[in-house]
Amino acid sequence: MQINEQTPRQIVEELDKYVIGQAQAKRAVALALRNRWRSRQLDDAMRDDVIPKNILMIGSTGVGKTEIARRLAKLVKAPFVKVEATKFTEVGYVGRDVESIVRELAETAVRMVRKERMEAVREKAEQLAEERILDTFVPETKPSTNPLGRLFGAADSAAAKVVEEDAEPKYKAGRAWCKKRLDAGELEDELIEIEVEDQGRPMVGMFAGSSLESMGGDLQDMISGLMPKKHKRRKVAVKEARKIFAQEEAAKLVDMDEVSTEAIQAAEKSGIVFLDEIDKVAVKDGQMSGHDVSREGVQRDILPIVEGSTVMTKYGPVKTDHVLFIAAGAFHTAKPSDLIPELQGRFPIRVELDSLKEEDFRRILVEPKNALLKQYQALLATEGVELAFTDDAIQRIAAMACEVNAQTENIGARRLHTIMEKLLEQVSFDAPELDEKKVVVDAAYVEEKLSEITESRDLSRFIL
Ligand SMILES: Nc1ncnc2c1ncn2[C@@H]1O[C@H](COP(=O)(O)OP(=O)(O)OP(=O)(O)O)[C@@H](O)[C@H]1O
Ligand SMILES: [Mg+2]
Repeated sequence: MQINEQTPRQIVEELDKYVIGQAQAKRAVALALRNRWRSRQLDDAMRDDVIPKNILMIGSTGVGKTEIARRLAKLVKAPFVKVEATKFTEVGYVGRDVESIVRELAETAVRMVRKERMEAVREKAEQLAEERILDTFVPETKPSTNPLGRLFGAADSAAAKVVEEDAEPKYKAGRAWCKKRLDAGELEDELIEIEVEDQGRPMVGMFAGSSLESMGGDLQDMISGLMPKKHKRRKVAVKEARKIFAQEEAAKLVDMDEVSTEAIQAAEKSGIVFLDEIDKVAVKDGQMSGHDVSREGVQRDILPIVEGSTVMTKYGPVKTDHVLFIAAGAFHTAKPSDLIPELQGRFPIRVELDSLKEEDFRRILVEPKNALLKQYQALLATEGVELAFTDDAIQRIAAMACEVNAQTENIGARRLHTIMEKLLEQVSFDAPELDEKKVVVDAAYVEEKLSEITESRDLSRFIL
C-alpha cells in the first residue's frame, strides 16, 4: 500500500481547507506523518529503532481537536482509527477492551487494501459480470441429453448431434445480439432473476447478550463459515445485477491471504490511532475514588499498546511498536500531569490548541469547504429557497457566539451550531411555503431573532 507522499506543507494546506487556525497542531500532525515516510526510507536496522513520536493535543472543548483528526483520516492513505478513551473499561468490566483498538486498526487496513485490490481488478470483474448477465439472458446450451435420442439408441444419435451443432451458432448469435443491446444500454432496466448470497446472519441472534465483540468477531465468522452459504433468488434490474456480479467477481479475484498480509504490514508500519477524550481517564492526584480506580486501570491497559506489544487479530498478530498515537483532550479539570507517568512519557509532543476568538468564529462560519453557512444554504436550496447572509450579519453571529460562550459555558465553535439553529428556525420551518424565495439575513434580522436571548443570561443558558 502506498504511504503518503505529501510534504508537511501540503498536509497543512489540505487541513487549512477545513480547520481554521490551530497552526501548531496542524504542523505537529503533518510532521508526524512525514516522519513515517522518512523512516520508511531508512535501512532496516535503523528503521526498527526509530519509533514514532506520539502527540498529545490539548485544547478546550469545541476548538477543533476531533475535527483535525477527522480531516486527517480522510487525507492520509493509512489505516486510521479514532476511539474515545472513555469507551474502554478495564478488562473484566463490561465494555470494550483496549486491544479492540488494534483489531479495529487491522480491520480498517484490510478494508483499505481489499478495496485497493478490488479496484485493480475492476475491469476484469466488470467483464466477468457482463458474461454472467449474458448467461441469464442466453443460457448456455447443455450438451444434449435428449431423452429420445437415448431411447432410440445409436441410430438416432447422429440426428441428435445435428441438432446440437445447429444450436451452437444460434447460441453464439443470440449472445452477440444480446451483448450489442447490453452495450447500447438498452437492457439496463430490464428485470432478471439472479442468484445472490444471502447476507443474513441468522445465528448471531442466538448469542445475543454475550459479548461477541470481545471475541473479535472471530467466532461470528467461524459460525457463519460453518453454515452452508445460503443462496437466494432475487429479481433485479440489469444495472443492479451488474454491480452485484462485479462485486462478487472482484471478491473472487482478490486473494484474501495476500490482503491480510499486506494489511497487517500497513497497520504496523503506517497505522494511526487517535485517542480522543484522553483527559477523561486521567485522575487528579490524591482524589482517587472507586470510579477512578477503573480510569487508572484504563490507562494501564492502554499503556502496553502505546509502548508496543503484539495483539492477536483474526488476520494475524499485529505489533504496535510503530503505530502512531495521537491523543487529545480538553484537560479542563485534570492536567496532562495527572496521567500515569508511563503514559505521559509516551506522548512527547505536546501541542496546545488556541481557544477561538470572534474573528475565528467569523471565518469558521464561511471559510471551510463545508462551512456551516454553506450547509444551511445547500439545505434550504433543496426547498428552492435562496439564503443569503450579509457581512454584518455574519459578524454579528460571530460576536454573539463569543458573548454567549463568555457568559455561560465556553463550548467553542459548537456554539455556532446552536446559534445558527435558533436563528434560522423560522425560515427552516416555513421554507416549503415561502412565497418570497430569497431570504436575506442581515444584522437587523440577527438582532431581531437573537438579541432577546443573548442579552438574558438565563435564557441563553437554556436555549443556546
Ligand atoms: N478551528 C476550527 N475550524 C473549523 N471548524 C471548527 C474549528 N473548531 C471547531 N470547529 C467545529 O466545531 C465543532 C466541534 O469541534 P471538534 O469536534 O473538533 O471539538 P473538540 O476540540 O474535539 O472538542 P471536545 O473536547 O469537546 O471533543 C465541529 O463541528 C467543527 O466543525
Ligand atoms: Mg472531540
